[in-house]
Amino acid sequence: MPHGGKRVQRSGSGKEAQDARREAASLPKLVLSAYSLSEVVCLATGVYSPLSGFLRERAYRSVVETMRLPDGLVFPLPVVLPVSREAGAALRPGGEAALVREDGEPFGLIRGVEVFERDPSWEARNVFGTEDPAHPGVGRLLSEPTTLVGGEISVFSPPEPEFPEIALTPKEVRAAIASRGWKTVAAFQTRNPLHRAHEHLLRCALEVCDGLLLSPLMGETKSDDVPAAVRLRTYQAIVGTYLPQERVLIASFPAAMRYAGPREAIFHALCRKNFGATHLIVGRDHAGVGTFYGPREAQEIFERFTAEELGVVPLKFEPAFFCTRCQGMASAKTCPHPDEDHVSLSGTKLRATLREGRLPPPEVTRPEVARILMEALE
Ligand code: ADX
Repeated sequence: MPHGGKRVQRSGSGKEAQDARREAASLPKLVLSAYSLSEVVCLATGVYSPLSGFLRERAYRSVVETMRLPDGLVFPLPVVLPVSREAGAALRPGGEAALVREDGEPFGLIRGVEVFERDPSWEARNVFGTEDPAHPGVGRLLSEPTTLVGGEISVFSPPEPEFPEIALTPKEVRAAIASRGWKTVAAFQTRNPLHRAHEHLLRCALEVCDGLLLSPLMGETKSDDVPAAVRLRTYQAIVGTYLPQERVLIASFPAAMRYAGPREAIFHALCRKNFGATHLIVGRDHAGVGTFYGPREAQEIFERFTAEELGVVPLKFEPAFFCTRCQGMASAKTCPHPDEDHVSLSGTKLRATLREGRLPPPEVTRPEVARILMEALE
């Protein structure tokens, strides 16, 4: 069951879409950034169910302050449309506007418009737990206009997906899960290439669930994260080679990364529930960045909600590593040996090794993945 009980679908074709396209031609225009466009895609396909549009002020304040919509339903991150002050001023309250791509092409409508102002410091403190502009989520928020437009959206001309081979809507993923007969499905959120620690979590999840939804985030990430196209090749290299193909479904998560740590872990869980997952893997510092969140914060936040109101179960994992004495992947929960016996490599060291054209230890990264990353660095 999608979050809130019904699946949202705001994207159509046929007569209704034709009428909407005609209507859009005479409406005030809102030009959307690539980031906002990906938000529309998520809204229109039900990734963000029960939301059917960008939050209006009351819902926005409620989500930021309480992690709930005004009706009490859990929703931990604001989904908003920032526009320039002039664009906002041109809108009639309760009216409509055309949603336009950066190339000038209209692709959708927003209805029942409400224009309001955000307080970036207040929002940053609540959502990210910091106002530090060095936090990439806060940095983005501070760079955006403070005028927001709320309203229901509809899409008459959906943008071409960037990665068509894994572009499945929640409806399509639910159908694929049903056809495979999976009753329990563990979703895996990732914004990184697949390393051995990730693979270990996937393997553990496959031991306890019927299937795995590999759900890589393919929307915007910070500039020093590995590009989505390269990451996708690493996922495809692992599935089938090291994990059984028939038990893994790769489907992109088209949203952008917020780096909101604990709140984003809840968000990831609810969005993956909308895709039909029953569980979400939550490991070390999920959706975190730098030292802004503690390694377990994203796991602990789940205790603030009941199982019923979330409707998706976190599979919590301790930091994983390869232990040379256990001769396998392990964690502090399963391995009695000291740190010296554990093979680890920081992200920075891993990149340096790859840049020098050397393969990192296979205990950290599979050679198939390392070669893809090396090629991408050339
Ligand atoms: S994230 O921003 O999407 O969380 P990443 O792609 O690295 O980053 O992580 C995907 C998932 O794997 C998250 O749940 C994260 O907590 C988990 N994870 C990553 N590395 C480890 C590790 N070494 N041990 C345990 N969990 C990990």
